[in-house]
Amino acid sequence: MRLLTFFAVFGLALAETGLDGWLRYAPLPASISWPSVPKHIVVLNTTKTSPVYTAGQELQRGIQNILGQSCHFSSGKPDESIIVGTLDAYVSTYGNISQSVDLKDEGFWLSTENNIVQIVGQNERGALYGAFEYLSMLAQANFSSVAYASNPDAPIRWVNQWDNLDGSIERGYGGASIFFSNGTIVNNLTRVAEYARLLASVGINAVVINNVNANASILSPQNIDGLGRIADTMRPYGVQVGLSLYFASPTSGVQGQANLTTFDPLDPQVITWWGNVTDQIYERVPDLAGYLVKASSEGQPGPITYNRTLAQGANLFAKALQPHGGRVLFRAFVYNQLNESDWKADRANAAVDFFKPLDGEFDENVVVQIKYGPIDFQVREPASPLFANLFHTNAAIELEVTQEYLGQQTHLVYLPPLWNTVLDFDMRIDNKTSLVRDIIAGRTFNRSLGGYAAVVNVGTNQTWLGSHLSMANCYAYGRLAWNPTEDTTKIHEDWSRLTFGLDQNVVDTITHMALESWPAYENYSGNLGIQTLTDILYTHFGPNPQSQDNNGWGQWTRADHTTMGMDRTVSNGTGYSGTYPPEVAAMYENIESTPDNLLLWFHHVNYTQKLKSGKTVIQHFYDAHYAGAETAQTFAQQWQTLAGKIDRQRFDEQLYQLRYQAGHSIVWRDAIVNFYHNISGIADESGRVGNHPHRIEAESMTLNGYIPYAVSPPETASDYYAVVTNENSTTGSVSTTLHFPSGTYDIGVNFYDMYGGISQYEMLINNKTIASWTGDSENYLGHTPSIYLDGHSARRITFADIEVKEGDILEILGIPNGIEPAPLDYIVFLQKGVLD
Ligand code: GCU
Repeated sequence: MRLLTFFAVFGLALAETGLDGWLRYAPLPASISWPSVPKHIVVLNTTKTSPVYTAGQELQRGIQNILGQSCHFSSGKPDESIIVGTLDAYVSTYGNISQSVDLKDEGFWLSTENNIVQIVGQNERGALYGAFEYLSMLAQANFSSVAYASNPDAPIRWVNQWDNLDGSIERGYGGASIFFSNGTIVNNLTRVAEYARLLASVGINAVVINNVNANASILSPQNIDGLGRIADTMRPYGVQVGLSLYFASPTSGVQGQANLTTFDPLDPQVITWWGNVTDQIYERVPDLAGYLVKASSEGQPGPITYNRTLAQGANLFAKALQPHGGRVLFRAFVYNQLNESDWKADRANAAVDFFKPLDGEFDENVVVQIKYGPIDFQVREPASPLFANLFHTNAAIELEVTQEYLGQQTHLVYLPPLWNTVLDFDMRIDNKTSLVRDIIAGRTFNRSLGGYAAVVNVGTNQTWLGSHLSMANCYAYGRLAWNPTEDTTKIHEDWSRLTFGLDQNVVDTITHMALESWPAYENYSGNLGIQTLTDILYTHFGPNPQSQDNNGWGQWTRADHTTMGMDRTVSNGTGYSGTYPPEVAAMYENIESTPDNLLLWFHHVNYTQKLKSGKTVIQHFYDAHYAGAETAQTFAQQWQTLAGKIDRQRFDEQLYQLRYQAGHSIVWRDAIVNFYHNISGIADESGRVGNHPHRIEAESMTLNGYIPYAVSPPETASDYYAVVTNENSTTGSVSTTLHFPSGTYDIGVNFYDMYGGISQYEMLINNKTIASWTGDSENYLGHTPSIYLDGHSARRITFADIEVKEGDILEILGIPNGIEPAPLDYIVFLQKGVLD
């Protein structure tokens, strides 16, 4: 009882896991007083599968939890009631709404005037959206009197899940699939219902549940039935199901379906095959949203196998879906492997090369789904020029909530500011304002369909994405797909209040961290438009700048001893800049008018090229990487100021990740600056690169049971070497006499935390244990792990405020485990204000 009072006073919930996301309906603090809210709810639909029914349930539950007020369902009388229903139902029950209301597809009207709350949807789904909007106001203690209509900017507001039927998720960092395991749909769909609830609350209307690298067996009768169960579970939330298809399914021997010898999209048998399968699916799922197709891309079969066009491939599915009202989202992510010795070769040109000639050939229910940039979800890319090259084709933008190239949820990166660089980009088609967000909404070219898709990849982890703070990206995605002009700072503030409570200091601190996060990540992971300099051949997580070049993937930097960057000009390069409308093309063609943050995307320059800031390219690289890592150090500190204001579990879990990020940002910084320092031979004007007066390299210490190890890539180890335990040692030791001046230090230890073993470490000073830790981050962090000593496994752990005297003996003991040989890189002694 006393414990309860304690938590009530401080407004802290007892145990929070993150499972409720931003829909916690936390009780308002007692310090707040509020006007009365109607005690009756009138639901103008009683069918349990209707989103209107769900809206009534949510309103009752939400008001009970947020305000502690019981509401009763009643019928008829509008006075002092919350009325929720469709416009048709409202009008037939009560007559017209007093004000004239402009409702578009799926929009809603919300009025709280005169002690009546009207939540009126253009359709059933709209009514549920309105109910969530009202509850979001209450949960944020916003009792203002409002009366407005809200309409979505675009009809397609989908999420994609890259879930495999075996339960794994491609580029997922929040655990296993909530949809699949062992080749089929899971029995318990509780998490699916909870996911649909979260998505509906921000206006998402469909989920494609399986990986774009699809498996034909999703089409077996058993799985179609499972799909039906998923659809039944999500239907009350107004969220439709969509399916990714494997193009060669007709020849894949799908259990229960005919097996053909061809998947040629123009073959009558193939056309019939897809027609039959589609009919079977619609029999079980009458409201299937449609199909998502990745074809003739990255090894996936497609129409090009038969010399058919991508439009012919897309229309095959469009025709099968058309009688049922379904849509095909056809991915523009089509490109071939290229040869880097060809100066004019450019993967960034691929989408326009493939799709522009097909403009006008796609059926009306096809939407071409275009990644925001022309390469692949990089930390910065120019807006894909394909948006400005399809005038007679529906288009949707593809965003990535899952942070594949942006820290895999173990780095804090609030993505909407990055997305806005594309959504707000003006293509200047015909020298007129033509924002990407207007193009995909269908406004610019008067298209019937279009909108948004985001790869989200939630999993069974109770945080959904693997990190509490990353959920802001999922929330913001829905809000922006509904209204791309909304202020991303305000969206984050709303999300913070809903997720962590109303304390202004909490909201301000978390939002401040969020706004600093993408610029910081860009600073330490690759800037000036060079792309995320991660390992593109392995995990896409840690640094590996040389992996970009000397392969056919076309994510090249063309870095050599004197120059770097891609020449994408028309005059001398790949011609990519010319794929934009003339004004934009001219801006990018000319180095003077190319913004610095995309300089290396468009131009191949000397390291000594001057930027508009007056700095050279190389010095900017050095400075930005130091600045970015420095900002990343402050995130854990900022978060720690919120101790006691956030419930324990979520506070501790996030702190662990932010501390990890602080260390890993230094791994990033050092790897990148060392790589360019080595290749260019140009010194850092500030003398930081390659100069580490506060470190002791493990390989320079007295080794017992440890041997030096040359790390690859070399720059992911300080001075290129680490130490690992001898093959047959059970415990290794590194030791040295300290020559730092006596004082208080934060001691950082850089080591490698590999997948496949949990080593134990102990640090002693003068034989006295001062710290111990284990290499077990794979149990806490969702990023793709590595079985090597490299930029993905490299980690720093820091122990604060340790007294050290000159002449002390420092020793670290390492006990290897599994394949992990207790690897150590260096120890760093940091006095206040020093970062090395
Ligand atoms: C990226 C990602 C792949 C994915 C592909 C796609 O390249 O790394 O895992 O399959 O995009 O979008 O199809």
